[in-house]
Amino acid sequence: MRNAYLLLALFFSQQAVAESASSLLKKYELLAKQENAAFVGFAADKGERFFHAERLHSDGKKVSCATCHTADPRKPGKTRANKVIEAMAISVNPQRFSDEAKVEKWFGRNCKDVLERACTAQEKGDFIAYLLSIK
Ligand code: HEC
Repeated sequence: MRNAYLLLALFFSQQAVAESASSLLKKYELLAKQENAAFVGFAADKGERFFHAERLHSDGKKVSCATCHTADPRKPGKTRANKVIEAMAISVNPQRFSDEAKVEKWFGRNCKDVLERACTAQEKGDFIAYLLSIK
């Protein structure tokens, strides 16, 4: 009996730790509402445009999320140093967006790299909604 309780406790503590793209989306939704009272929701098509949008960086080079993650998120991408980046589409790579700290770390780095500013919660949510929508 005691073991059963232990197992149950273990089960629930692991559940609490395990993130998923959809539970992360809920968090970004709360943040987006704080950022913008007129927030109406996330949209995969906006995330798709955001993913592909090329921006002229102040270093003179054109860059987008697709520069490294490739135009097709179902395919592996490449860093500037030619290292493989696993596919971003959640249907292909279920590990994606399962670790909040990792997600925030890379949003931080890559948004700065591409946009030269932080991404908004709206942009992050649209981006994840797009990657969730890919079959
Ligand atoms: C210079 C190359 C590069 C560009 C440009 C880039 N990324 Fe990334 N991205 C990476 C690398 C490298 C990783 C980490 C390796 C991995 O997760 O497979 C990563 C991982 C991520 C992750 C983590 C996903 C997870 O499962 O935890 C997110 C979120 C992300 N990128 C968002 C973006 C967004 C949004 C843009 C465009 C604004 C973008 N990236 C542009 C290289 C890039």
